[in-house]
Amino acid sequence: MRLLIMGAPGSGKGTQAARLASVVGIPAISTGDIFRANVAGETPLGRVAREYMDAGEYVPDQVTNAMVRDRLGEADCAAGFLLDGYPRTLQQVEELDAILAGGDQRLDGVVELVLDAQILVDRLLLRARDEGRTDDTPAVIQRRQEVYAEQTAPLLTEYAGRGLLHSIDADGSVEDVTTRLTAALGAIRAAVTGR
Ligand code: AP5
Ligand code: MG
Repeated sequence: MRLLIMGAPGSGKGTQAARLASVVGIPAISTGDIFRANVAGETPLGRVAREYMDAGEYVPDQVTNAMVRDRLGEADCAAGFLLDGYPRTLQQVEELDAILAGGDQRLDGVVELVLDAQILVDRLLLRARDEGRTDDTPAVIQRRQEVYAEQTAPLLTEYAGRGLLHSIDADGSVEDVTTRLTAALGAIRAAVTGR
């Protein structure tokens, strides 16, 4: 299964990706997590990414695309993957299409977590207290939501047009959302088997 999980910052992508990936038996790959590991390790990639992340802006496509291409080439991705936070721009969509086409592979489904704007912000403000992520300040949270609306929300139309999009209500408990996502996965699996 080759899957994407999309949704605005704070919608629960990371939380749900970890659960789904372990059920399906594929790696959950979060570009945000890879960037944060590089920032923490003070690598050259981390030094580039940091200024963008701390401002709530996207890391340039060229940098992000190269990183994802490398990651998807690793052995654990051979049987599938769940991408969290990639693609976020039309150029990234094109790059992912090219990576998959190069391996004679295709995307099986895209799940979108839908959540009211105020709940998104409240969740991130709560996380700021618990985890101290440097981009969880009120101003940067606001900017991340704007960038998502401007640059990433349009991708949902693209994937809907391809018949791949499953939009899920992300309100409620973590468990409730996982149950809804698992149902969507069942539909995706049925579509894959039927083609
Ligand atoms: P990234 O790390 O992907 O951050 P994000 O998109 O802002 O999303 P978050 O990780 O904040 O939220 P989430 O949807 O994963 O929710 P979570 O499960 O944590 O990206 C960070 C930065 O990296 C970007 O701004 C950019 O600079 C760069 N970047 C990454 N990818 C890029 C790309 N492709 N191109 C360019 N740049 C890129 O949940 C949020 C909180 O809510 C948690 O505390 C969680 O415990 C809680 N929660 C989850 N579910 C529930 C629930 N059901 N009820 C109550 N609380 C819940
Ligand atoms: Mg996340």
